[in-house]
Parts: sequence; C-alpha cells; structure tokens
Amino acid sequence: MTIKTVGILTGGGDCPGLNAVIRAAVRKGISHYGYRFRGVEKGWKGMLECLWEPLGHEEVSGILPKGGTILGTSRTNPYKVPDGGDIVLENMKRMKLDALIAIGGDDTLSVALKLAAAGAPVVGVPKTIDNDISNTDYTFGFDTAINIVTEALDRIHTTAESHNRVMVVEVMGRHSGWIATYAGIAGGADLILIPEQSTSIQEIVDTIKMRHDRGKDFSIVVVAEGVKLDGDEYTVQEGGTDEFGHVKLGGVGQLVGDVIEKETGFETRVIVLGHLQRGGTPTAFDRVLGTRYGIAAIDLVQGGDWGKMVALQGDEIVALPLERGVGELKRVGEELYDISRVFFG
Ligand code: F6P
Repeated sequence: MTIKTVGILTGGGDCPGLNAVIRAAVRKGISHYGYRFRGVEKGWKGMLECLWEPLGHEEVSGILPKGGTILGTSRTNPYKVPDGGDIVLENMKRMKLDALIAIGGDDTLSVALKLAAAGAPVVGVPKTIDNDISNTDYTFGFDTAINIVTEALDRIHTTAESHNRVMVVEVMGRHSGWIATYAGIAGGADLILIPEQSTSIQEIVDTIKMRHDRGKDFSIVVVAEGVKLDGDEYTVQEGGTDEFGHVKLGGVGQLVGDVIEKETGFETRVIVLGHLQRGGTPTAFDRVLGTRYGIAAIDLVQGGDWGKMVALQGDEIVALPLERGVGELKRVGEELYDISRVFFG
C-alpha cells in the first residue's frame, strides 16, 4: 500500500516534549517520504468525531520549545462508546488516513493496540511524565518534571530551614514513584514515600523524630500522590473516575503532614506541586528524546511496521510490539529506592 496521508494524535495527560515528537515526524515525513499530515485534535475524541487540522511545515514551525501539545488532548476512550472501535476505523477512512501515529501513555497505547489488532495501520510513541511505561528506559517529559521538582525542593529547603519546619511535598506519580525517587534523591529529601514501597505511619514518624534527635531542626518529605498510607486506599479528590477508570488522586501529602505534626509536635507545611510538573518548556534531554521518538515513529510508518511502538533501551531507540509497552507498568526497583533510603532521617 502506498502511504500518502498520516494522522498524528496525542492522548492522555499532556507532557513537555510532545511537540518535539510531532515536529520531527512531520519534518522527516515530508522531506524524506513526501507524506501529507493531518493533526487529529484532542486525542481519541478527534478520531471519534473526525476533528482534524492540516499539519505542515508552517504548523510545526517554532513548536520545539513549547510545552503541552499543539493538537490538544483528552482522556477519551473510544471503547467506552458503543461501536467506538469501528467508528474510529471508519473515520480513518473518512479522514483518508493511510497511517496513524498515536502518542500517549498506557491508556492511549492500549487503544492503539486494540485498533492494530483489528487491522488498523497504527504505530505508537510512549509518553508520560510518570516514566512508568514498560520496556522503555525513559519517556520524554520525565526529565522536565524531575528538574522542576528538584528546583522546587531546593527552594523549599531554604524556607524549611529558616522556619525549622517539616515540609511535605506531594508530587505526581499515580502508580509509580519515579518522579518522587529521582527528584527526592536530587533534591536531598529526608524521606521519600512511593507507591511501590509500603511505609507505615509509625516508620514515617520515627524517621522524622530520628532526624530531629540527631540535631536537625527541619525536614523535607517527598510523597508520590499514589501512596497508600498503611496499605489503605488511595487518597482521592471528588469527581469519580475518567474513561479509563482512573480516580483523581490528591491529598495524601496533607494526610502525611497532619500525622507528622500531630505525632512529632514539629510544625509542618504541605505543598502540592500538581500540574506545575507537567507544564512549560521541555528540557534539552526531553526535546532530543521526543525528536528521536518522532523520527523513529515515521520510519515505522514508512516500513509498514503496524502494531509497533518506539522505545528507548540503553541509548538505542528500538521498535517493540505495542503489547510490550501496555498492561504492566514499570515500577521503581529496590536498588534505586535503597539508594534514596541511605539519606532518610
Ligand atoms: O498520568 C500522568 C499524570 O501526570 C499522573 O501522575 C496524574 O495522576 C495525572 O496525570 C493527573 O492528570 P489530570 O489532572 O490531567 O487528570
């Protein structure tokens, strides 16, 4: 089949580096393969509703340093709509798409996998600031996020020290503690709580007390939003679940802060970094990684390698079956967490 028109969509939470992927795929697709591009708007919603815009040199010009996604995004799951999969396949024809590049995390890529299994010419690019996609060492957006959190921790340090306070910093990480662990190590956290490691309330309190017993009069605690205290439930905000069944997390930092203040008597403040971690310009690392993923994705299209996704392994960009990226998440291992543990208390 001759490929003439390629669609690109971005799904799920936005992430610095998405525009680098779009720009790279479009630039190489036009200059090397003579493709025409259609930017599918708002993720899978755009495929259900035929929302698209032309994507050419002009549209991708100047977007490399821009955060977010010029295509817009959503958490729409087409398989939640009756006949949603068939509608997407039908709309691919209506939009004259000979190929589709889906850029997203576990949820977006799981939809791409189902479509590819139904015969659609789809390839995937992994994306999430959480860095928890299986079989890829890093996703773009993660480096930007950990730099933002590290800078925040540096700033929080000076005010914590001046006021002799415990500062609890809640960071993103729904199922995994990559952001908390990397930024916590880089920012010199005195305790890091992540979903992969259950830490009891007693251990939290004992760690802070131990630190203060050895003469320190301030502490920095980093908590990933997906931590379950004492093996309990997630701490969630109002608002039900999204179309992929995810609850809106948030609030575990406050619980940790309340316990620490009550049990230790040390004055405690809580900060939720929230979407600050996802906004703004990507780091150089994320721009390069996004560019490499975009180039590799358009090469997959040219090769007709449907049902594959690009991934970083070591310093190489490889192509994997989409199944290898979805389903099971990549979690923080003991070895890395043990390094952070050396500095607790
Ligand atoms: O999936 C990435 C992520 O950043 C999670 O860490 C976080 O729980 C979620 O997105 C929040 O996204 P939103 O507020 O856009 O639903």
